[in-house]
Amino acid sequence: MGAFIHFPVIPAVDLCSYDGHVTRPLPRSERGNIAPFHVMETMAAAASHEMDGHTVIHLEVGQPSTAAPKGVIEAAHGALDSDVLGYTSALGLPELRERIAGWYLERYGVGIDAARIVVTTGASGSCVLAFLALWDAGQRVGVIEPGYPCYRNDLHAFGIEPVPIPVDGSTGFRPTVEHLDGAGHLDGLVLASPSNPTGVVLGPEHLTPLLEWARERNVPVVVDEIYHGLTFGVETPTALALDPQVIVFNSFSKYFSMTGWRLGWLVAPAPLVPVIERLAQNLTISAPTLSQRAGIAAFDQTDECEANVARYHRNRDSILAALGDAGFKNIAPAEGAFYVWVDIAHLGIPATELCHRWLQEIDIAVTPGIDFDPQRGEDFVRISFAGSADEIDEAGRRIVSWTGSMR
Ligand SMILES: Cc1ncc(COP(=O)(O)O)c(C=O)c1O
Repeated sequence: MGAFIHFPVIPAVDLCSYDGHVTRPLPRSERGNIAPFHVMETMAAAASHEMDGHTVIHLEVGQPSTAAPKGVIEAAHGALDSDVLGYTSALGLPELRERIAGWYLERYGVGIDAARIVVTTGASGSCVLAFLALWDAGQRVGVIEPGYPCYRNDLHAFGIEPVPIPVDGSTGFRPTVEHLDGAGHLDGLVLASPSNPTGVVLGPEHLTPLLEWARERNVPVVVDEIYHGLTFGVETPTALALDPQVIVFNSFSKYFSMTGWRLGWLVAPAPLVPVIERLAQNLTISAPTLSQRAGIAAFDQTDECEANVARYHRNRDSILAALGDAGFKNIAPAEGAFYVWVDIAHLGIPATELCHRWLQEIDIAVTPGIDFDPQRGEDFVRISFAGSADEIDEAGRRIVSWTGSMR
């Protein structure tokens, strides 16, 4: 079994001090010693720059700039006025689970029994439940790098070993069976499509061989589909259409523009549902009831959601054009989500320094790649184009002018 990744961020034992008095050593767990989410530091730096009187264009945030759809807000008002809003079943409101099952039929033509659907506290809650239900401490689970850092950090916190599977431009930033073969023994695999931070979509031609590889070895697969719906001219099949054995999760955060409502779901094979139910009962009791009541309405609000997708699409084209003009050549295919993953190595400036300079010199906040790829992340930045069209166009102009002044 390989060595765990250690993040030397917090000493395992610290001194505890109350009212200025040093008292006694305070033990801390190794499992809690996970990496910070650096994007939060970028957001804090941007906020402090704003406090100094600058107007910052926020390209660091990983969330829609819009509110929840109007129908969702109305439903929430109705529930507030009429419902006591107590706990729900740990699996979620039956009406919501049925509505989610209906969504799979409408969107993907896939029939899912509502009994296999668990309502969660966002995709974050789904990660926790799926990882705990599937894997024991010490097992090895493959995570694609670059990828969403919480997979790696959550696994680490549970004593499960995250096994990095690095991908790059040579395969369009997509994992292949050769990548999986190169990872050594795996007890599990986490995939995402569209990916944060690359925006890469795994079509059936990419997903099928990966899922077959896992099935042949009896390796459980979790697929994060949180950015489904946010794609630009490419089809995004749900992995459930290809293999009913996978655990898929999704959320109201991105397509439905409801990050703060903390609502998501997962679809699990039937035998795993009672396991997940017991975990959910003990970990959270239930997802927020107000959000669940309002969430039922979300699926009827697709006009508003699609208007957001159209804006993301046009923003994506705008920022890609600007980055091309600015001389950035190695950019992951931004087919979905609302990010571009940009190779900045030719500038000879590490990403953390570049992000600092762009904030100070041209008032734009961008995330350094180290969150998503601890090994190669200083050569990449993640740019979010979830903002308004005007902001994205202006940010593009500033990047072009800044790189021009560097030549
Ligand atoms: C790829 C991915 N998965 C999961 C999450 C967690 O989302 P939430 O808990 O808001 O549903 C995020 C949030 O940015 C994400 O980008």
